[in-house]
Amino acid sequence: VTRHLVGKVSRTEPRSLSRVDAGGVPVCLARLEDGTFRSIDDVCTHEGASLSGGEMYGNAVVCPLHSSQFDLSTGAVVGMPAQEPVKAYPVLVDDDDIYVVIVST
Ligand code: FES
Repeated sequence: VTRHLVGKVSRTEPRSLSRVDAGGVPVCLARLEDGTFRSIDDVCTHEGASLSGGEMYGNAVVCPLHSSQFDLSTGAVVGMPAQEPVKAYPVLVDDDDIYVVIVST
């Protein structure tokens, strides 16, 4: 298990998405309206678009290419056309530091 520093709380707006690098894994880091963080793979399982370039819709992200929706907490598909979920990763906040936790298999 490795935690990767991906950003600063003070520089991240609520209701925002950003593409971050977690040890070589492209991750979509989301800060929800309530200020908490979520992270999922940034690569859409449909045709590979960058999910961080999409829109946040409640607790889901809408893919910018064909509007699939993924739950930001679980990575589950909540809107077609994607069929496969994306991976979700735990996010740790330590003071002002944001970490994404990747469990390598
Ligand atoms: S690439 Fe994301 S919905 Fe098609």
